[in-house]
Amino acid sequence: MRVLGIETSCDETAAAVVDENGMRSNAVFDQIDLHALYGGVVPELASRAHIQSISPVIRAALRDAETTADQLDAIAVTTGPGLVGALLVGVSAAKGMALSLGIPLLPIHHMEGHLVSPLLTPGSQITFPFVALLVSGGHTLLVHARAFGDYVILGQTRDDAVGEAFDKGARLLGLGYPGGPAISKLALGGNRAAIPFPRVLLDRTRFDFSFSGLKTSLRTYCHRNQEAMQCTHHRRDVAASYQEALVETLAIKAMAACQKVGADTLVVAGGVGANRRLREILEERGAKLGIFPYFPPLSLCTDNGAMIALAGRMHLERGATGDLSVNATPRWPLVPIET
Ligand code: KG4
Ligand code: ZN
Repeated sequence: MRVLGIETSCDETAAAVVDENGMRSNAVFDQIDLHALYGGVVPELASRAHIQSISPVIRAALRDAETTADQLDAIAVTTGPGLVGALLVGVSAAKGMALSLGIPLLPIHHMEGHLVSPLLTPGSQITFPFVALLVSGGHTLLVHARAFGDYVILGQTRDDAVGEAFDKGARLLGLGYPGGPAISKLALGGNRAAIPFPRVLLDRTRFDFSFSGLKTSLRTYCHRNQEAMQCTHHRRDVAASYQEALVETLAIKAMAACQKVGADTLVVAGGVGANRRLREILEERGAKLGIFPYFPPLSLCTDNGAMIALAGRMHLERGATGDLSVNATPRWPLVPIET
């Protein structure tokens, strides 16, 4: 079954084709340059850029996959969560194609896409159940994925998402957007023990995160040490220490969550999953506990259409028939909240 996946929930216009042999193409147009000027994603600019890029990106995905539209069996699209104007562009394009081709339209939760993204790694041995650490610009989730579609949220952030903490931290350090890659670049060669930034909520029986206090400590530190912050050497230490506080908190919680549910596989996905230090610390700590972290290749950590196409295929295999009446759902919990 050949599925086209479309993703426009934030600042990447992405489309990809996935079939039973894996990823046939993965076209992404990122809008980084557009938003960099403003230090963060400007929703209206994102929607306009999606409108301009969506058709060329879909064409590129089909061309790279050596596939014509009428060879597609279904279309999967991110319907939420995300920016409503941005989501609408992908949803409208997907609806139009599915309707004209007479094939199913599958609505996909963005975080479920991230959750399955490591399965796209060629030769992946990952099987359910596992624990997923989903770390993006808008979400920080620890999920016990018992089977595809059967998720238990073990923990989530109470305030800022970890990607947001990277982005806001980068702004305080005068670095560009997106903040994660900028901080990790500055942190290279810095002393990660130089400044003891706080690690909060480290009670190993609960798995919620809170990063806003850490951001405030960085702000206070920069304010109190303005002179020292002029020195690149010192800024490196600050970036390395800040990054360490973020990734160590993630590692402590993720390892404890795996131990709690008895999982030996930790799947890490989402934009922050591209962070090298996060990978290193999870590998170091996992090795001691018999927990194996899996990361998708860097190109699949950040937003892409392949993860959406794969989630679509998995839903189809489980009998989903699609729904042409889907709409953008900017707020959509991964697991329904019980009332
Ligand atoms: O998953 P993603 O591409 O988009 C959302 O769904 O939000 O994640 C984007 C986030 C941004 O906050 C960005 O700063 C962060 O991922 N990020 C990183 C790295 N690369 C991207 N954070 C830390 N280290 C990185 N290397
Ligand atoms: Zn994402």
